[in-house]
Amino acid sequence: MSSLVLLDEISPGIGLLTLNRPDKLNALSRDMLVQLQARLDEVETNSEIKVLILTGAGGKAFAAGADIAGYKGRREREFMDFQFAGRRFNDRLEAFPKPTIAAINGYALGGGFEIALCCDLLVVSTSARLGLPEGLLGLSPGGGGTQRLLRSVGRHCAADLLLTAWRMKGERAYEVGLASALCDPDDLLSVAKGKAEAMLKVAPLALTEMKRLIRLGEDASLPAALSFEQEVLFRLYCSDDGQEGIDAFLEKRQPQFKGK
Ligand code: COA
Repeated sequence: MSSLVLLDEISPGIGLLTLNRPDKLNALSRDMLVQLQARLDEVETNSEIKVLILTGAGGKAFAAGADIAGYKGRREREFMDFQFAGRRFNDRLEAFPKPTIAAINGYALGGGFEIALCCDLLVVSTSARLGLPEGLLGLSPGGGGTQRLLRSVGRHCAADLLLTAWRMKGERAYEVGLASALCDPDDLLSVAKGKAEAMLKVAPLALTEMKRLIRLGEDASLPAALSFEQEVLFRLYCSDDGQEGIDAFLEKRQPQFKGK
């Protein structure tokens, strides 16, 4: 099987997942989704990888969406199976226990943008163009784009992107708070790596729990989410890492977190 998705450990603790179909702007095929799931299995079980960066090969695109050529002539069942596979991957990525960063150079459209929206942080370059242009094909997003974009940027910004099929520039994505960093295309990976390195200093259990809190808080009532927040804190306080963090601060040394 050719490698449509590459996985490298680019520095201690940091994995890099690269969508690798640059001649088709990394458009997401069925085989690519299979390989993406397999790569996530590897990252999940590899205890050396603590933070995952996702990017696209070739510099022109993160991913320009689902493989439109693969849509031609599909039976309804096949088409839906592809959509379900995309949704399974996106749901898993969003709930992934380790933090994820989308590093976006060039186009992140349709399914590519939907993958980025499942990451915890987006880092964009000035060449980034983000959008959900499915309406131009007579279709609509099916991998969570409408709902995750709405929750990320709010109703009117989401409507603007969806209803006008506008491609948002990296600068604007940064202005509206969708992206947490904006940089020159050549600096993209080093800026994403900087964010990952900051995460490596945070206790891994705390990272996982705070990710869950953010996800839960998007849909829960405030009282329920606040109760869950305190449950999480009590659990972390009782963990070895919680005690280690407190000790290390008081002893004026760096904590040694073990993920327990
Ligand atoms: N699916 C399949 N192939 C795609 C693709 C997609 N989503 N996006 C780009 N490609 C292919 C093109 O067909 C082309 O292949 P070819 O060289 O064999 O003809 C190659 O990638 C380069 O794309 P091209 O369109 O020539 O580049 P461009 O710079 O002129 O335009 C885009 C770039 C992103 C504006 C344009 O490719 C595009 O609109 N893509 C579709 C985006 C989309 O609708 N995504 C949602 C899909 S549901």
